[in-house]
Amino acid sequence: MLFVSGNHEDHDWLASLHDAAAAEVVPVDPFGAYRHVACGNVIEVAGQRVAFLGLIEAPGKMDLDESAYARLTAVEPGGVDVLVTHDGPYGMSLDRRGNVQGSAKLARLIEHLQPRLHVSGHYHHPSGPRRYGDTTSYALAQLVQPKVTRWEPEPVNPEQRVTAGSIGLLDTETGGFEYIQDEWLADVKGDALDLAGLVAATH
Ligand SMILES: [Fe+2]
Repeated sequence: MLFVSGNHEDHDWLASLHDAAAAEVVPVDPFGAYRHVACGNVIEVAGQRVAFLGLIEAPGKMDLDESAYARLTAVEPGGVDVLVTHDGPYGMSLDRRGNVQGSAKLARLIEHLQPRLHVSGHYHHPSGPRRYGDTTSYALAQLVQPKVTRWEPEPVNPEQRVTAGSIGLLDTETGGFEYIQDEWLADVKGDALDLAGLVAATH
């Protein structure tokens, strides 16, 4: 599983992994199941040219990486098939106070690259399909909602279930994309993982 930075990770630790390995894609777990992609890279995945740009457009340390953004704007239009970002394009939704959400810089990047598919996260709700020229864009739901939030004192997700609409499926032949909403998804749950035991049992 490849992933981009959001706005809640230990970014210094992730950067240290990239520095130590001198690589743009680095495993973050003992099995190499989860691999972080540094911002601004284009990697072939299942025959698709996939561009990755994490972080969000906001002043401060979570702001989009300027050089990574420049590297992707230097790719010719049509040069990538899929764009994966954490933030979404400007105008995609409204927050609880009615403010417009999304990143103007990402909207410009989508308009420039015109990937067949754009996928984002960050706003916790599924949103899409939205069309931007030749691009169809989707936002995914939060993968696992927290047990409680500061706005919702009642337990939101006590069993730590995977959220419907947090995973999408791309048919690389047809370009068709669908959210996974199936019943079985709710059976994927829990927060008790004995990683050390798992490593000991399999090594
Ligand atoms: Fe986020």
